[in-house]
Amino acid sequence: MTAKKRNILVTSALPYANGDIHIGHLVEYLQTDIWVRFQKLRGHNCRYFCADDTHGTAITISARKKGITEEEFIAGVSRSHQADFAAFGIEFDNYGSTNSPETRRFCEEIWSAIRKAGLVEEREIKQLYDPVAQTFLADRFVKGTCPKCGRTGQYGDSCDCGAVYSPTDLIDPVSTLSNTTPELRSATHLFVEIERCHEFLEDWVANSGALQPEVVNYLKGQFLSDALWPWDVSRPAPYFGFEIPDSPGNYWYVWFDAPIGYMGSTLQWCRKSGEDVNFWWKNPETEIHHFIGKDICYFHTLFWPAMLKSAGYTLPTKVHIHGFLTVNGEKMSKSRGTFILARTYLNHLNPSYLRYFFATKTSPRVDDLDLNFEEMEARINADLVGNIVNLASRSAKFASVTGLGDTYPEDGGLFRKAADLSEEIAAAYEERDYGKALRYILECGYRANKFFEDAAPWTIRKELEAAGGDANPDAFRRLQDVATVSVNLFRQIIVYLTPILPDLTRQSEELLGCRITSWSDASEPLLGKKIGTYKHMMTRVPKEGIEAMIEETKNLNTPSGAEQPPASSEEAAPASEAAVSDDQWKDSGQPLLDEPMSETITIDDFLKVDLRVGRIVEAEQVAEARKLLKLKISLGGSETRQVFAGIKAAYPEPEKLIGRLVVFVANLQPRKMKFGLSEGMVVASGPGGPDVFLTFPDEGAKPGMRLH
Ligand code: 2FM
Ligand code: ZN
Repeated sequence: MTAKKRNILVTSALPYANGDIHIGHLVEYLQTDIWVRFQKLRGHNCRYFCADDTHGTAITISARKKGITEEEFIAGVSRSHQADFAAFGIEFDNYGSTNSPETRRFCEEIWSAIRKAGLVEEREIKQLYDPVAQTFLADRFVKGTCPKCGRTGQYGDSCDCGAVYSPTDLIDPVSTLSNTTPELRSATHLFVEIERCHEFLEDWVANSGALQPEVVNYLKGQFLSDALWPWDVSRPAPYFGFEIPDSPGNYWYVWFDAPIGYMGSTLQWCRKSGEDVNFWWKNPETEIHHFIGKDICYFHTLFWPAMLKSAGYTLPTKVHIHGFLTVNGEKMSKSRGTFILARTYLNHLNPSYLRYFFATKTSPRVDDLDLNFEEMEARINADLVGNIVNLASRSAKFASVTGLGDTYPEDGGLFRKAADLSEEIAAAYEERDYGKALRYILECGYRANKFFEDAAPWTIRKELEAAGGDANPDAFRRLQDVATVSVNLFRQIIVYLTPILPDLTRQSEELLGCRITSWSDASEPLLGKKIGTYKHMMTRVPKEGIEAMIEETKNLNTPSGAEQPPASSEEAAPASEAAVSDDQWKDSGQPLLDEPMSETITIDDFLKVDLRVGRIVEAEQVAEARKLLKLKISLGGSETRQVFAGIKAAYPEPEKLIGRLVVFVANLQPRKMKFGLSEGMVVASGPGGPDVFLTFPDEGAKPGMRLH
């Protein structure tokens, strides 16, 4: 146990209030919760704050679609987020909202500080405005024809061909909100001249020790080697957010107030608990730890420290950055049934499985983390059920008869050995190396099980039974010794596992009749106690649960995140009910809204397009292109075509496409591209980016067959 009690403020990224919590989110909240539980068990003054990130145009759009106010919409999402977190045992000290008076207060304070520091400049910018929806349009709310390749239906920021541009460059832009042509309007925006903080940031990044080495290199290489771009922090009305007090009609951009929400949530908690918010945010004796994903590194390691520094607040002690989740080696996908919502998971599997499995995969590095269901099943069955829970059930069987002795018996040094690991395990938790901590803990479990087997208490019990109850005090004492040792070795393991598996701890406390309140409980044996009857603690992972969860996910057709509104919990019917209703597939009308039907054509028009079945025989990345894969399509015999398809984000492992049949537009005029000639097009659906879905012909189709 470290002597000094630390004050530790911890945050996880604030989830955007426009989508349900899914297992990708849980990578972060679970690792943060484990870290916080560990610090609390060590006796530190640790608090975990979070909130919903609620501002921006996307919220307004979602609320409008539901016919409710933004406030009503975010209130519903907050309830659903909090229910999901609670079900996974994620315990915040406060869960707030960025749309709170507390967050507003800090926004105003920090804003006036950065104004005073001379960091804010005004600039005129031209932006597309939808006069029907009466709003300026963010990039993803505009579609049109790519100015580079002429492809239609492209978003305002980039095209499937790989071109990157601004929405004002699109040909024939259309607002996706009203399907009307937007106007170009000028507006004044406020910019933070972050370059003026360059020197400070360079020093902080390199020398504060707050960042992982790979993050330091990334920031130095990608950003700090050049001048930092001014940051556009305002949006003109209408915008759901806070109006900037000294710039009426302008609102802080959602990313300005999002991290300030950490402070708002702290203040909310301080008001309830009578604490001083400056103790947490303006105190060199308080550590501040942010847990975030690598996609939002830029905001937390450049803008955020610059804002805090300018306003005289404590800089982050550490920004713990993690990678993304892949499932079975691939990015989460709705069609494969691996874009799993927290709620769907809970319908089928025990949350402790995921807490444990993610922990085995957590390391201090920024690497991505893979959830492989077979591996998860094998690890939980072997480590938890076979090793730890097995130790509890077999030890308790004897301990409930003998109770625990008054003195700790000779155990060949096993208890001491596990107690001596205490600081090493703690260091691994502290470093967020939960995989390493678990390796130590499991070794304790193997040794304890071996002790139990070698001691063979069942033979001692036979001696006892032969003598008739406790008429053989020597055998009774020997049996009690085995029970005392094995129960105590189990308890040590449970203390060490408590941050990861709080439910297992609760069950163990019930069995042992004694609470686990401190890390140091692992160093003191429990003696002279009666032990309850063992009650079932955890089952093996049910294969059919995994299958049913994937099946349910495939059928859900749920929104994919920030761009689309979440299905509120009131709306989401259980799969069994949905199966008997008319709209059993719950297909959203959104795709048609996003891309309305084209005008009617004749059959002759259609037949002009020569659609063929093709087989992908080669597929590779185009290293220099952000979005493209290079494919070779066989049309049967020796006929092949080369195409460049903008599907890289959706199919990051092109080799997996080799051999698959696709629908191919065979008579499209070849197009010369930067990387070579593209001689046709593979047919796909979806809005773009990772949400692109190739069309695969049914079994039996052969390359070269025409589609009609
Ligand atoms: O990326 C996101 O989902 C953001 N809502 C995270 C915000 S983190 C913090 F800055 F609030
Ligand atoms: Zn293009």
